[in-house]
Amino acid sequence: MNTFGEALKVTVFGQSHAPAVGCVLEGLPAGMAIDREALAAFMARRAPGSSPTSTRRKEADEVTIIAGLNPKGETSGAPIALTIPNGDTRSGDYAAMGKVPRPGHADLVAWRRWGDAWDRAGGGQFSGRLTAPLCAAGALCLQWLERQGIAIAAHALAIGAIGDEPFRARTLDERSRRRLSAQIESLRDGRSFPTIDEARGWVMEKAIQEAASEGDSLGGVIEIVATGVPRDLGDPMFDGVENVLARALFAIPAVKGVDFGAGFGAASLKGSEDNDPYAIDDDGEVSIAKNDAGGILGGITTGAPLLARIALKPTSSIAKRQRSVDLETMRAIELRVKGRHDPCVVPRAVPVAEALFALAIGDLMLSKRAFERL
Ligand SMILES: Cc1cc2nc3c(=O)[nH]c(=O)nc-3n(C[C@H](O)[C@H](O)[C@H](O)COP(=O)(O)O)c2cc1C
Repeated sequence: MNTFGEALKVTVFGQSHAPAVGCVLEGLPAGMAIDREALAAFMARRAPGSSPTSTRRKEADEVTIIAGLNPKGETSGAPIALTIPNGDTRSGDYAAMGKVPRPGHADLVAWRRWGDAWDRAGGGQFSGRLTAPLCAAGALCLQWLERQGIAIAAHALAIGAIGDEPFRARTLDERSRRRLSAQIESLRDGRSFPTIDEARGWVMEKAIQEAASEGDSLGGVIEIVATGVPRDLGDPMFDGVENVLARALFAIPAVKGVDFGAGFGAASLKGSEDNDPYAIDDDGEVSIAKNDAGGILGGITTGAPLLARIALKPTSSIAKRQRSVDLETMRAIELRVKGRHDPCVVPRAVPVAEALFALAIGDLMLSKRAFERL
């Protein structure tokens, strides 16, 4: 339920208003020095309270690693256990709501499954808060992947109807390669809104603020790329790279769709347009001219960049009046959700998407290495 991975395994625990959230990460190679600054910088990209487009709940998101490191601060080969304290909780906001499920959130299914035992404050284990330990585990895995020459980046490709420039990862000529590197670099310069085109980011921020001022929310699309991924990872059918990545990405709350390469757009292309042609390069190797396949054919990596998109729904907890039911009296009721909520979860979910991509690719890489050792 809360565990992902075979060779690299992460188990997440916690609830939104419990004393802490955290995870156990097993399988990261031993002897890797942890870069604490890089970990903190990664966590800060997801942390709430720093932007007008996120919830006003303030969380430092400080990671305490309680096991799995040796005295030199390197991975020791033992499971890594880490916790992140929950602060600034206001459980009263939820108690005041009564037993009224928020439409679009997980309240109804959680009460049906666990009854009054369910810890509903802050959405319990369905809260976006659980993406903090996912980010911490992903950031550690990313440190290992970077040492293997793999780079992962994501950006807000769309917020509502406003779009950003896409990653140049579906064409593979030298100019595109350089442009893609520059795009990835630009996203690392600490910009406040995660778009490639900063001006589009300002328009998106304004749209989110406008929706929030109307008591409403917005959704959007995140695009994720990984470069330097070796070919021949993954397996056919149920263990394909698409399967593994989708399983990881659907763990992000509010994700309702995942596609790869040309994705749903491929449905309206002709074969002659969608096929990525082959050629023989100067080293006598097979090269692939473009990348509508998103780096995956038959579930196995081609060596081209992995390219995915995820669709996130608009935040369900909105101040606008909505129709719900009171589960105590079994009567219809009008609900206006109080409390502090992200008017759009997309900007904060961008590092989360990178983290899940890292965990999935890390698992595929380490599974392959385990197989090669046999
Ligand atoms: C980073 C992040 C922050 C989130 N913040 C909120 C929030 O403030 N309010 C809310 O209603 N949902 C928020 N969500 C989404 C809910 O957690 C999610 O919609 C809910 O658990 C139901 O799951 P589902 O939408 O995947 O079906 C957030 C999601 C993420 C990834």
